[in-house]
Amino acid sequence: MSNFEEFEIDSRLMEPQETEEDGETELSLRPHALSEYIGQKRVKDNLSVYIEAAKQRKDVLDHVLLYGPPGLGKTTLSNIIANEMNVNIRVTSGPALEKPGDLVALLTNMGERDILFIDEIHRMSRAVEEHLYPAMEDYEIDIIIGKGPAARSFRMKLPKFTLIGATTRAGQLSTPLRDRFGVLLKLELYSPEELYEIVKRSAGIMGYEITRDGAMKIAECSRGTPRIANRLLKRVRDFAQIKGTGVIDKEIATFALEQLEIDHLGLDNVDRRMLETIIKLYNGGPVGLETLAVTVGEEAVTIEDVYEPYLVRIGFIARTSRGRCATRLAYDHLGIRFPTPTPAPGAAQTGLFDEE
Ligand code: ADE
Repeated sequence: MSNFEEFEIDSRLMEPQETEEDGETELSLRPHALSEYIGQKRVKDNLSVYIEAAKQRKDVLDHVLLYGPPGLGKTTLSNIIANEMNVNIRVTSGPALEKPGDLVALLTNMGERDILFIDEIHRMSRAVEEHLYPAMEDYEIDIIIGKGPAARSFRMKLPKFTLIGATTRAGQLSTPLRDRFGVLLKLELYSPEELYEIVKRSAGIMGYEITRDGAMKIAECSRGTPRIANRLLKRVRDFAQIKGTGVIDKEIATFALEQLEIDHLGLDNVDRRMLETIIKLYNGGPVGLETLAVTVGEEAVTIEDVYEPYLVRIGFIARTSRGRCATRLAYDHLGIRFPTPTPAPGAAQTGLFDEE
């Protein structure tokens, strides 16, 4: 296998975007109630108040916007909200809603208080978005019948529904759309302790024996992301089954992660290449996002949404107004000497003139 192919496989393992295999596992591992959902304490506490209040009033839940990096459980949380509200949920995504008619078809088939979940809502077309405004605000939608000069439009009443929008890029939503959400919830990267709980829970559901240190090892390498934690758990399980005793312990987890070229902080080749680029090509930064993207061969949005949040969280990259900088921690991690600050001009020479 060429180095290039190896690199492709490894990097996919650490990307938080959902793969087909994740989809199947996530279904069985997914918590169904807020009480089973680990982490995101503030989000959970606030949501449970809004849900209880709406249920007590026998009213529809206000529209909810969930935003934050991929893989943190936005879809899971939406399904939990539907369960807790005892309503149905219809799932779609921004790119799947190609024309206003697609939205009309979904909304006119919903029951009272049901949930419409739109993933990647920032990728919805302008035309669909504009049809969503009266639907969100007044539970009404414009239906256009016929084409050309003979086309007629009329407003149709919709059942009261809740829209849950999910996005990795809240900043890309238009103001009119963002303002129509009553509840804005930001999901944060998980702590290693929270990921440890998730790994233990998932291993239990999958029927594997896992030690405390084994689960902690996987948690520490999962970049704050449950989806990556569950994916790594499955790969470590394979190694435990074939190369170990079947038990997922620290030793087999360490071995498996080494084989996967994932270091003890969960950094993979792309992260290391990015940090090395900032340090070696741009003297530690600042370097602009676009320049960095071109140099490492990734899209700027991928760097910003996928790689950077974790590197910022662990203090390896600082975002400044002039661009990205590698911190001393990043130099230390890569074993590169942090440059000692050059003295201010003239400072080193004061002695030369003292004797005059
Ligand atoms: N699986 C994935 N995310 C989870 C979470 N936040 N809590 C429990 N199990 C999970």
